[in-house]
Amino acid sequence: MLTSPETWTQGDIAALLRTRDPDEIEEIRAAAEQVLLRECGDAVHLRGLVESSNVCKCDCDYCGIRKSRRDVERYTLEEDDILACAHLIAELGYGSMVIQSGERSDQKFIDLTARAVARIKRETRSGDLPDGLGITLCVGQQSRDVYQRLFDAGAHRYLLRIETTNPDLFAKIHPKEQTLASRMECLEVLREVGFQVGTGVMIGLPGQTVEDLAADVMFYKTQDVDMFGMGPYIPAPDTPLVAQDCPPAEDRLRLGFLMIAATRLLCRDVNIASTTALQTLHPHARETGLRFGANVLMPQTTPPERRRSYQLYAGKSNLDENAATFRTELEARLKAIGRRIEVNKWGDSRHAVRRMQ
Ligand code: 5AD
Repeated sequence: MLTSPETWTQGDIAALLRTRDPDEIEEIRAAAEQVLLRECGDAVHLRGLVESSNVCKCDCDYCGIRKSRRDVERYTLEEDDILACAHLIAELGYGSMVIQSGERSDQKFIDLTARAVARIKRETRSGDLPDGLGITLCVGQQSRDVYQRLFDAGAHRYLLRIETTNPDLFAKIHPKEQTLASRMECLEVLREVGFQVGTGVMIGLPGQTVEDLAADVMFYKTQDVDMFGMGPYIPAPDTPLVAQDCPPAEDRLRLGFLMIAATRLLCRDVNIASTTALQTLHPHARETGLRFGANVLMPQTTPPERRRSYQLYAGKSNLDENAATFRTELEARLKAIGRRIEVNKWGDSRHAVRRMQ
């Protein structure tokens, strides 16, 4: 029997994450789904994902677009290309988009992103979307001024993953210029600037324990975060971490689902994405993630000719996802699990809406 999440300790969450018995997993899943339906309803929010540049100044040990990788063809989408993606997303009725890129602090890129955001807000307004597309940014650690500028341009949500809350593990997988403390500080600044803030971790990293993951979930609760994106770690070729052992794929997959459920049970009214990394480990895993308490999907809307250059890990599953047919196919699959797509809405988390009232 599941105990009440309000009383959970790190040990209780670790015990939940260790579950392997199918009946117990089903009990956890059903409980998380029930909390989701009660707190957030049956809607699945879509955010068209545009990977605007794979140029990156960071050298994270796990990442397929890290600076040191010489064989990656680097690109930056033109402003008009980003706008074309935004128009497609609006036409498809997704209501929101995510602009994600490698981490860059050069002025040219910040200017480009701010200009694109402002134009998207202006040019996607319609009867269906009176305030234009909702925009989430995922462009890494930036200064307060840059965050402010991007917010003023019209972006209203920001995703910055913490990757892991274990400082030793964080230090092991990042070059020394990057620190957990500065990432945490960015989350604070983003909140102060006025963004709805999302974070998350990778699941099944070499050297990561179930206790670490339980601490991550405890951290989520204390931070009053609005949204989460987390997924299994997937080894990327030609990266330092690829040589190190990580748990087998089925364990990372199960842990991915259980992390979603634990987060839903504890944080209740937040948005949780069912990520591409999950789907990379199993073709139907994104839908399974929704059944474990996730309520956001990020369909691939990067121009097809660029997708192959934006591979954070090996075997990324949605390279051939077709933006035009994705929605109809998804609609049928969601119906089968008692869920529906929400059309032409930003789909902010109830948590954020309540917090900002
Ligand atoms: N496996 C899984 N997720 C990864 N990310 C980067 N590299 C990998 C990988 N090899 C995730 C990180 C980052 C997000 C954009 O992608 O969590 O914050």
